[in-house]
Amino acid sequence: MNPTEIIRKKRDGGTLSRDEINRMIQGYLDGSIPEYQLSAFLMAVYFQKMNFEETTILTDIMLHSGIVINLKDLPGIKVDKHSTGGVGDKVSIILAPMVAACGVPVPMISGRGLGHTGGTLDKLESIPGFRTTLNLEEYRKVIAEAGVVMIGQTAEIAPADKRLYALRDVTGTVECIPLISSSIMSKKLAEGIDALVLDIKTGRGAFMATEADAVRLSETLVAVGTMFGVRTIGFITDMSQPLGRAVGNWNEIVECIECLRGADVPDLMEVTLTLGAGMVMLGGKAGSIAEGKALCKEAIASGRAWEKFLQMVRLQGGDVAAVENPASYPRSAVSMEVRSSSDGFVGAIDALEVGFTGIMVGAGRMTVEERIDPKAGIMVMKKVGDRVKKGDILATLGTDRTGSISSAASRLEKAFSITAAPPEHTPLIRSFVDSTGVHPVPR
Ligand code: URA
Repeated sequence: MNPTEIIRKKRDGGTLSRDEINRMIQGYLDGSIPEYQLSAFLMAVYFQKMNFEETTILTDIMLHSGIVINLKDLPGIKVDKHSTGGVGDKVSIILAPMVAACGVPVPMISGRGLGHTGGTLDKLESIPGFRTTLNLEEYRKVIAEAGVVMIGQTAEIAPADKRLYALRDVTGTVECIPLISSSIMSKKLAEGIDALVLDIKTGRGAFMATEADAVRLSETLVAVGTMFGVRTIGFITDMSQPLGRAVGNWNEIVECIECLRGADVPDLMEVTLTLGAGMVMLGGKAGSIAEGKALCKEAIASGRAWEKFLQMVRLQGGDVAAVENPASYPRSAVSMEVRSSSDGFVGAIDALEVGFTGIMVGAGRMTVEERIDPKAGIMVMKKVGDRVKKGDILATLGTDRTGSISSAASRLEKAFSITAAPPEHTPLIRSFVDSTGVHPVPR
């Protein structure tokens, strides 16, 4: 099969067979198809899309490019959650121990931050000693003992995705539903899970900026999961302003610690409890989202979620004393406050701009090789809808990059729109998606 013919067929809107998709992906992995041909192929898919059958074939090929973990010998329905990525999205770190404390095992393989979005792995690694690179034997040991484990993608899991994602990132082919779906689902299906809850973000800070695209992505993701025998549901959630107050790495861990110890950060906890409730329901411990939410709240209120988090930190080599006493952590060399220049209401906070400001201060990276500074970050002090007076602190920044702090602060200030009237309320959790379609959020 000639790769040029396959590229031309897709370029002209044709439907590819399993053999043709396999030839492109395997050829790229074994070196017989060069990067420039795969790049052209990805761009053809970007413009011409793939139908559902092609998308499931691509997912299947990517899934079986590596090992598929089998956790069937461990008791319980194993459930994971995946977010399409956002700014200040630290939900997994509260949710995984909380759901495990409800008796549902959570084996979680997470990613690093890229572009303006943060990554769970970078946040976890800001805990001194915390290891996210467990081998498979260690992964099984931690999930068996604690009922929760959080690691990064290993070389054995969906290696095709690792190679393809890096190429998509530099060829402008990330924002494509069949490519995103096969990328996410090949990794998730390899983890050994029985069920999956998806958090599909929409808004300025998300890969899918419009709600219509987020809905289409969620329908494809849910259909692919269901097709592979993994019960999959999704929630479309807002990512037009950062989630919670902290944007960075260690400061996000601190916010998670506070929530696990009972603090209420309203938007962050609303998303965490809703997704957690979905997981507890799929894990067979609750009959409805409402019941699942009550169990999750109780896991936090009783201290069991916090204990579970400490157990996971200990088993993965993390410094328990540091998370028990977060004030002992080193601080950034400089900090700066961003203040409101007028009276009014916070009308909007551009999550994309906040994410890019985070990169300027060292909390994120633009290329996979860049090192991040775990201490650096932003605290959002006023959220959309809050009333402000001239001179009120909107946000604070901390960094070791003394030369960048002033320009970062002025960029952050522009991310806030102050309006005379309060903004219209938009729901944080927009809709619920299952294999039968898109529905209002169950309460
Ligand atoms: N996250 C992934 O894992 N893959 C994508 O393609 C986009 C977001």
